[in-house]
Amino acid sequence: MLANVKEMTFPQLGDDRGKLIVLEELAKVVPFEIKRVFYIFDTLPGIVRGNHAHYSNRQLLVCVSGACTVACEFPDGRTAEYRLDWPHKGLLLEGMIWHSMKDFSQQAVLLVLASERYDEADYVRNYDEFKRICSEAK
Ligand code: TYD
Repeated sequence: MLANVKEMTFPQLGDDRGKLIVLEELAKVVPFEIKRVFYIFDTLPGIVRGNHAHYSNRQLLVCVSGACTVACEFPDGRTAEYRLDWPHKGLLLEGMIWHSMKDFSQQAVLLVLASERYDEADYVRNYDEFKRICSEAK
């Protein structure tokens, strides 16, 4: 069962006017065709978002302002947490990964590039269902 997480550091284009980062499929920074972009902001303290997995959708997460933590659980039961706290850091999530986003700092803006259009049928939102899918794929 495909489940892959990759921590990425994006090339920075910058000069004495400031920094610039390009997330572009053609330049191979983003390893999929970007069909959708959304961003999460104005999160209240202590809030946890996500808590789901996807069947097909691949995502590249970048905290373009502030910071947040992405907690992942993989099909084999392993867990890992990733702190996104700089605009040149990204987290690529591919495959059946239960993930949640938490510990948002004030003014955090989490940008998500997605490989698929929004489709509720692509979501696994029930944790027991996620565990069942993972155990059946063993
Ligand atoms: P939800 O998946 O609960 O957000 P998160 O994973 O950040 O906790 O989405 C919140 C609402 O927004 C839900 O009603 C679905 C809707 N939504 C869309 O309509 N299109 C989208 O691309 C996304 C990501 C969510």
